[in-house]
Amino acid sequence: MIKAVRGTRDLLPPDTALWNFAEATVRDVFRAYNFHEIRTPIFEETQLFARSVGEETDIVSKEMYTFEDRGRAQSDKGQSLTLRPENTAGVVRAYIEHKLWERGLNKLYYIGPQFRRERPQKGRYRQFFQIGAEALGPATAGSESPARDAEILEMLATLLDRLGITDWTLELNSVGCPNDRVAYNEALRKALEPVAAKMCVDCQRRAVTNPLRVFDCKVPEDQPIIDTLPRIGQFLDEGCHKHFAAVQEILTAVGVPFQLNDRLVRGLDYYTRTAFEFTHGALGAQNAILGGGRYDGLSESLGGPQAPGIGFAIGEDRLILALKQSAEEVQRKPHVYVAPLGEGMDREAARLARELRRQDVVTELGDATFRLKKSFETASKMGAKFALIVGENEVKADSFALKNLGTGEQVSVPRSELAHKIQSSR
Ligand code: HAM
Repeated sequence: MIKAVRGTRDLLPPDTALWNFAEATVRDVFRAYNFHEIRTPIFEETQLFARSVGEETDIVSKEMYTFEDRGRAQSDKGQSLTLRPENTAGVVRAYIEHKLWERGLNKLYYIGPQFRRERPQKGRYRQFFQIGAEALGPATAGSESPARDAEILEMLATLLDRLGITDWTLELNSVGCPNDRVAYNEALRKALEPVAAKMCVDCQRRAVTNPLRVFDCKVPEDQPIIDTLPRIGQFLDEGCHKHFAAVQEILTAVGVPFQLNDRLVRGLDYYTRTAFEFTHGALGAQNAILGGGRYDGLSESLGGPQAPGIGFAIGEDRLILALKQSAEEVQRKPHVYVAPLGEGMDREAARLARELRRQDVVTELGDATFRLKKSFETASKMGAKFALIVGENEVKADSFALKNLGTGEQVSVPRSELAHKIQSSR
């Protein structure tokens, strides 16, 4: 038997109803904040991720699904492609490719699958879904303003509240800018020099190549050492300091609670200034329900113009785990089950079902091989509110027996009144 690949999974009804419920709420909330949808390809040139997310990150160094795309022609040299492990890089590529700066500030969102070869466990998959948003554009369009950071964070708080997810914590840090990084990296290297030999092999390498990435280390024995390292907060220049203070001021003014976490550097290289994560108590080890931050230099590093930006991605799989609603609660059940009774009645039932569906009545259509008892049982099992009997007598009278499956009450309703009767007593 061929099964789904390890770390991937099928989403089946009724669970998909929960996903649709979450996505519909997300789209509503994003619309209120004037974000618009962007859809970028699921695979991109490998270089895009290497140059944006960073060679030394776990994502690029260990987790990408990369393949050589080679045709049969002699002239086809082949191209290294990668299934997107995240979507910020793709959005910034599209921003540059389509000269989106001409539109001023771009507020874009996406919903879609991402791919990382991580060790699968609850809340961690190799194909997972992200709901993300990015606000980017020329600085003159306001993209650099702390007001953008606060707007995004406030939108996320509103979204989680709207979804009924209450038990969240917003962790906030500033990871500074290239200005601060030179001195900070120097200080980190110095601090790591005498202790690196006691750390894991990854950290020994990071200590030399990209010391900030040491903070991504999950090895328990390394944590006491990491705790002693200098923090980026002590190295912020005046501009970064002011920016971070302004973000916090607005958040306080709009009533979004947060906790400062000076160890939070996020596992991707493109971040500058504001970095954040929302964690959730009920999620266990994989407790980051979403993460994001500013990436003021990303466009330039990909060959584009200066385009400060900030964004986030929600792990949709984790968001669903945090919902209190059950799939059954949000799934739309049929309003009516149309039960043809007797020879030739499939045709009549199909006509009636068509009329009802055109009036937005959620209709399930049975078939004439079922006896009435089996039709009622089937209808009840799928949660239909009514069964509608289509027999020869009913068709002649153009009036149909409508049975309320909850109360057992049965009434005869003229064809023209059926849709109204069913909908008004939902
Ligand atoms: P990230 O922190 O790598 O950031 O991923 C964001 C969220 O995706 C995580 O907080 C988590 O909920 C979810 N996630 C990540 N990996 C997995 C996995 N293997 N299984 C299930 N869920 C997962 C980014 O991807 C950035 N692009 C976010 C961003 C947008 N920053 C600025 N703009």
